[in-house]
Amino acid sequence: MEKISVKDARDESSIGSTCQLQGWVRTRRDSKAGFSFIEINDGSSQGNIQIIAEAALENYESEVRQLTAGCSISVEGEIKESGGRGQKTEMLAQKICVYGWADPETYPLQKKRHSMEKLREWAHLRPRTNTFGAVARVRNCICNSIHQFYQEQGFLYINTPVITASDCEGAGEMFQVTTMKLDEIAKQKIENLNYRFDFFDKPSYLTVSGQLEAETYACALGKVYTFGPTFRAENSNTSRHLAEFWMIEPEVAFADLNDNMDLAEKFLKRIFADALSKCSEDLEFFNERIDETKSLIERLSTIVESEFVRLPYTEAVEILLKADVKFDYAVEWGIDLQSEHERYLTEKHFEKPVILFDYPKTIKPFYMYCNDDDKTVRAMDVLVPGVGEIIGGSQREHRLDILESRMKDQDLDINDYWWYTDLRKYGTVPHAGFGLGLERAVQFVTSMSNIRDVIPFPRTPGNAEF
Ligand code: 4AD
Ligand code: MG
Repeated sequence: MEKISVKDARDESSIGSTCQLQGWVRTRRDSKAGFSFIEINDGSSQGNIQIIAEAALENYESEVRQLTAGCSISVEGEIKESGGRGQKTEMLAQKICVYGWADPETYPLQKKRHSMEKLREWAHLRPRTNTFGAVARVRNCICNSIHQFYQEQGFLYINTPVITASDCEGAGEMFQVTTMKLDEIAKQKIENLNYRFDFFDKPSYLTVSGQLEAETYACALGKVYTFGPTFRAENSNTSRHLAEFWMIEPEVAFADLNDNMDLAEKFLKRIFADALSKCSEDLEFFNERIDETKSLIERLSTIVESEFVRLPYTEAVEILLKADVKFDYAVEWGIDLQSEHERYLTEKHFEKPVILFDYPKTIKPFYMYCNDDDKTVRAMDVLVPGVGEIIGGSQREHRLDILESRMKDQDLDINDYWWYTDLRKYGTVPHAGFGLGLERAVQFVTSMSNIRDVIPFPRTPGNAEF
């Protein structure tokens, strides 16, 4: 017998077919007339399908009437048109088999609503809930769009290393990777570690970004992108930071900051448009049940149609200085904007995505292209309502002398970056790129307020369970 998904079974076109469904029970209700309604879900769609189980089933009393939330079953039967509200089809069961029971005394996902905090403790079971099923489907849709977008435009997907010796962002937020035995070292009270005894012969870390390596490929193959995990040991317990997150980093040769902004805007619009068209049922769920103002779909649709604001940092500071709100962090030219400032700009002042550019060079990494004013660099951040910074990027400094002097300013050892400076010695070209934080994109598309709820198993300070 043909196995079909709940998603397909919910479609009118399946009416009349006899098939098999497999999934997990969400609810069971027994009618006085001597039959039961069982709702099952298999993850293929937000909605469940209703199974009608009649008393004539041989295991009706012994098993069907014992089914509770979480049990896994297989059902064979005929798909019928449904008279019920909000469903086009239902299945009249001819045979029901139980694969696994779920003791209602201990199964955590009972009908009542659980807090997001509680569900994080059950990260292995939360994909069985409506919310986390929807997050997983939207995240998958976004990943698929990302690859499609770049592939259609002739970008090459490259894989940059997870373990590296260079700190791309220079922020010192790296997790060290070592095979040295920390507890033995602690016992011996060694003062100067000799890295010759370590696996890579030098201090090595989990990467914070694949950008520097991506630049080497862009400076040979033109247009490339990475899509991989990145790691940051920043001790910030916020709703926007993870210690392990996924980043997409396109890098383009013969491109400047304007090209970079164009690419970022087109890219984000494509992701949002695909989510709207391919995940409409899930987005309606987020719109009604998760978004505080129930305006998610309207917001995404407007963004896809309208132009992002593009604003130099200096003008943003002027707007913030004039704003009649009291910020926790005082604003002055030269500061690294705080999330409250970014959110004021994108949520209150412009009420749409904003690309800020030309930031003070003192607050940005060494690799960004220096403007003629000698005060700013060709950096850009894309800010969106509700999330704040979603993309960070820049035009790269491709002039060897300026790059080297910037590295000196930031106390970097030029010798450590010999391969990076080689790109400027041999056939250097203007080039640019950016990084999109995947989880921030998923947050934006779903309205989920905490980033820990848009990645299956969040890694945060003090938390590496599962
Ligand atoms: O702005 P960032 O630090 O930029 C870079 O890493 C550049 N090397 C990218 C490039 O030009 N190729 O990080 C890029 C994006 C941020 O805008 C944010 O969306 C996300 O990565 N991000 C985080 N997401 C979750 N948790 C964290 N701790 C994040 N840190 C950055
Ligand atoms: Mg940034």
